[in-house]
Amino acid sequence: MSAPLFEISGLHVAAAASPDAEILRGLDLTIGEGEIHAVMGPNGSGKSTLASTLMGSPEYEVTAGTIRFKGDDIADWPVDERAKAGMFLAFQYPQEVAGVPVRSFLRQAMGQRKGITDMSILEVRLAMMEWMTKLDMDPAFADRMLNEGFSGGEKKRNEILQMAMLDPELAILDETDSGLDIDALRVVAKGVNEIRSARPHMGTLVITHYQRLLDELQPEHVHILIDGRIVQSGGMELASKLEHEGFAPWLEPVS
Ligand SMILES: Nc1ncnc2c1ncn2[C@@H]1O[C@H](COP(=O)(O)OP(=O)(O)OP(=O)(O)O)[C@@H](O)[C@H]1O
Ligand SMILES: [Mg+2]
Repeated sequence: MSAPLFEISGLHVAAAASPDAEILRGLDLTIGEGEIHAVMGPNGSGKSTLASTLMGSPEYEVTAGTIRFKGDDIADWPVDERAKAGMFLAFQYPQEVAGVPVRSFLRQAMGQRKGITDMSILEVRLAMMEWMTKLDMDPAFADRMLNEGFSGGEKKRNEILQMAMLDPELAILDETDSGLDIDALRVVAKGVNEIRSARPHMGTLVITHYQRLLDELQPEHVHILIDGRIVQSGGMELASKLEHEGFAPWLEPVS
């Protein structure tokens, strides 16, 4: 049997600046090819820490456990190597990149992913036009500076555009639904679903606070993350229990 696409076991993580205070405290999660997994958890439970650690952010230090991508332990892989191998992260708070238009950024990122130094401008343009139409984006957007003055919804759409064009093996979406209006949320969900059908082997990890995005994406697996650990895994019934009851059923009573 071949190794699963992505396998996290016994993961402990601390902020590099304060290595004694663990944020993730023994997390196990396996994502197979083509699977979509959702992680839900209260504010501060460690969701973004998980996403950033998976992408190799130097802000975090793995203190124990392993992260395997197609069987390889990626502990020492820098961010760009993970991206090149096909890991993609849509950030909760995307950064502005001053003076770089969306189209140039995408051309550079696509080239890096495909290992081509001089990506064809025409190829990038055609792929961009195709996905911008699918994502209901104004073509003028391609000439804007990356994330500069983008509205919340525009930033999120732009991330989905990046995801579509970078052809990931594993996509991690950290609260891609936050701040979206209902129509934009549907566009983003439709985009993710279209990317999934174009790439049926892609694994997806969706971090969200709300059931609405999950209703659109229909993940097979839902995990509840509390205080740095997955305390329960199940299906969509967990998301609807959470929507109705909040996190109380999973929180230990305070004595
Ligand atoms: N670089 C850091 N330095 C110190 N503490 C950190 C750092 N990053 C995260 N933390 C702490 O770790 C905890 C988890 O943060 P994280 O951002 O992962 O939560 P989250 O589950 O994504 O929350 P939210 O739902 O609000 O986005 C928080 O208490 C946070 O203050
Ligand atoms: Mg977060």
